[in-house]
Amino acid sequence: MYTLTYESKSTGNPTVRDMEELMAHARARNHLEGITGCLIYYMGVFIQVLEGEKCNVLRLFERIKKDKRHSGVHLFSDDEIEERNFPDWAMGYCGIDKNTSGTKESEHFKKNLSLLVDLSASKNITAKLFWRRAKFLITSTN
Ligand SMILES: Cc1cc2nc3c(=O)[nH]c(=O)nc-3n(C[C@H](O)[C@H](O)[C@H](O)COP(=O)(O)O)c2cc1C
Repeated sequence: MYTLTYESKSTGNPTVRDMEELMAHARARNHLEGITGCLIYYMGVFIQVLEGEKCNVLRLFERIKKDKRHSGVHLFSDDEIEERNFPDWAMGYCGIDKNTSGTKESEHFKKNLSLLVDLSASKNITAKLFWRRAKFLITSTN
């Protein structure tokens, strides 16, 4: 089994609806291909962790890299793994943008994400780096 994590910049300002559509498609497809993971959208930045059979994950990553909804896709860690870190998540998602930043909901989101970061027992270095990057992102941007 294999995992990778990357970061990229959104090319537009995706609405909640855009993100819901992206996620519905991703969940359905990932489920069929046995891919699990998590996607975070925060103030114009995506970070995603993917895990599954290596050929499936790499094939998906090739598609994702070509997607015009983001650019500057930067792979920052990958690993061969024994077991999944996100077995129940066909694709988890959390998101926030400048329209929602500063609202009660977004503060709630940040708090929950911080908690999740602290509580997630990462079984491999890629998952650890994903959560560390997520935490850095939400604490360094307002
Ligand atoms: C940030 C980001 C994350 C994505 N994550 C996934 C994913 O986990 N699974 C997936 O199938 N597509 C994902 N996509 C969409 C793919 O890039 C691509 O549009 C889609 O897989 C094409 O599917 P199709 O060949 O069925 O049209 C993502 C796109 C973006 C911009």
